Amino acid sequence: MKFFIDTANLDHIREARDLGILDGVTTNPSLMAKEGIAGDAAVRRHYETICQLTQGDVSAEVIATDYDGILREGRELVKIAPNIVVKVPMIREGIRAIRQMADEGIRTNCTLVFSAGQAILAAKAGATYLSPFIGRIDDTNWDGMALIREIAEIYAIQGYDTEILAASIRSALHIVESAKAGADVVTCPLNAILGLLRHPLTDIGLAQFLADHQKANV
Ligand code: E4P
Repeated sequence: MKFFIDTANLDHIREARDLGILDGVTTNPSLMAKEGIAGDAAVRRHYETICQLTQGDVSAEVIATDYDGILREGRELVKIAPNIVVKVPMIREGIRAIRQMADEGIRTNCTLVFSAGQAILAAKAGATYLSPFIGRIDDTNWDGMALIREIAEIYAIQGYDTEILAASIRSALHIVESAKAGADVVTCPLNAILGLLRHPLTDIGLAQFLADHQKANV
């Protein structure tokens, strides 16, 4: 399973990259706004910087919601760097645009996915990645991980190439469960990635090893 970081924060991207486990980055308009990135030129510069930090895929989301606008933005975004993937919302015009971009060799990430039916449509349209939002489904008291399992089963049966990118990850447990459910990629905030490191018995065991070494070497 590939690890993407879900942020537009450059320090967080550097920290994940320096861990040696980073395969890519996803952003969205909310994450860009959180970093204070506004205006076309600033957005473009920020994507350029992110693409210099990682050679992995970087999802850059379109703002347009009409077919021509999505295509126009998508074609501009991919000029920024070869590792840009155009993130497109799961709407009628988005599906049409994903089909067209696939035909042009432009890679896409179909976002805001909440059902297996949407997942089938995106795969048929030729999306490179599919982003089901686990955490947001959990927030509504439904089971986000059940959707990942369902999509993984359908894609395996049908032989679809689209990669399942588990998104809206809130915890280290979500990452582990995504791996078990058959996600190809997981995109997570830095704190969820770092959460994978932590176990109290590791800390206790290390303290004991170091204390024993100290006693034996006085
Ligand atoms: C990533 O592709 C999604 O935009 C992101 O994971 C959404 O996460 P959120 O539900 O925490 O905003």
